[in-house]
Amino acid sequence: MQAFKIQGQNRLFGTVDIHGAKNAILPIMAAALLTDKPIRIENISFLSDVSILSQLLQSLGMKIHNETDAITLQADNITSTHADYDFVSKMRGSFWVLGPLLARFHEAEVSLPGGCAIGTRPVDLYLSALTEMGAEISVENGYVRAKGPLHGAEIFFPKISVGATHNTIMAAVLTPGQTIIHNPALEPEVIDLIEMLIKMGAKIEGVGTKTLIITGVKKLTGCHHKIIPDRIETATFAVAAAMTRGRIYLKGARMDLMDAVVDVLRINHVIFEQDDNGLLVDATHAQLTSTPITTCEYPGFPTDCQALITSLLAIANGESIVEERIFENRFMHIPELQRMGAHVRNVNNSTIILSGVSELSGTTVMASDLRGGVGLVLAGLVAKGQTIVKRIYHIDRGYYKLEAKLSGLGAVIERIDID
Ligand code: UD1
Repeated sequence: MQAFKIQGQNRLFGTVDIHGAKNAILPIMAAALLTDKPIRIENISFLSDVSILSQLLQSLGMKIHNETDAITLQADNITSTHADYDFVSKMRGSFWVLGPLLARFHEAEVSLPGGCAIGTRPVDLYLSALTEMGAEISVENGYVRAKGPLHGAEIFFPKISVGATHNTIMAAVLTPGQTIIHNPALEPEVIDLIEMLIKMGAKIEGVGTKTLIITGVKKLTGCHHKIIPDRIETATFAVAAAMTRGRIYLKGARMDLMDAVVDVLRINHVIFEQDDNGLLVDATHAQLTSTPITTCEYPGFPTDCQALITSLLAIANGESIVEERIFENRFMHIPELQRMGAHVRNVNNSTIILSGVSELSGTTVMASDLRGGVGLVLAGLVAKGQTIVKRIYHIDRGYYKLEAKLSGLGAVIERIDID
């Protein structure tokens, strides 16, 4: 097992590269199943989630070629439509092979997913959309078995789901007739998937609105696509700058993808300057003050940034209310943050109140999920003394070389082996 050992209270200064968004890379890799032509994806970081999905796609017969920051996928000899538990249980995004397999091969058998334990995370919306499109679906022995062929349909999502939107779009682009999706997710990663599908020849109208109209085509072709920068990684370094009162240039980052986070940090007197190559975050005059946070679907405050901002609010002046509206179990990092000295009260399962303290203190804590784990790393960066964050395999799912990037900015952090 590996852990991060952090010596806190160093301010962060310098430049860091922001990689392509994990949450866009995963659906876009799955979309390579929709064509027999090569798909080249650029601005890739080889996170453990990317490697799990690569292994799953290879088990289906996909050819994959990795370069330094690009990956080429070709599905010209798919030999299986069975996505095994061994892969899907490790990472929820791998469930997204269901839609493309069903659309192109008219059958799929995909294990029910795993992923971070941040809530029950059902797949009912995925399955009801595919059923509307004519799929015969059964769930047996932990697997979803689906049979086509599919046809166009009008789908109304009663709740916004990023994954169900990805999956339904991927199914619809290769399905005869017109599919109308009401109430899709509008996250930038969904738009990135749509832009790449359009390059492949998909016919999609209403991009960025609450109604998508997709006209199925017979064949899709190959393309090159550069993934959008990771807005959650960007937010992580911006919050790290704010907490340490540092100044960081985020190369490749785009502020327009994370307005809600920028708005909160501006309240804390953090200054942002966007140019063509990246984003400067200047927090040298930051004053951390209580700020109410409610997580929402895009363009609201992202649930994936809740744990990051919670660590900041733990050392901000005054009382902050944080309400989590997307996942029901996303405060798992809080007991560990309390062990570092944070003052937190639970109002109910989805709401906490933080009373800012002047200083956190280092101790040994355990990451319980990806973003909660990074929240603890951020707390360690400002805590007095040494913090050990255990179970960092959660963090490796979504952050590429986090310790190297933070060290390059002046943090004292190293990866260590522990029992
Ligand atoms: C994706 C992101 C994750 C982010 C989340 C919300 C990836 C790999 N993961 O996860 O980082 O936190 O969006 O922005 O891109 N739901 C149902 N039924 C369904 C599907 C979802 O009730 O069939 C519920 C979920 O339990 C949750 C809510 O809808 O409460 C949103 O989940 P969803 O948007 O689907 O999240 P993911 O796609 O799993």
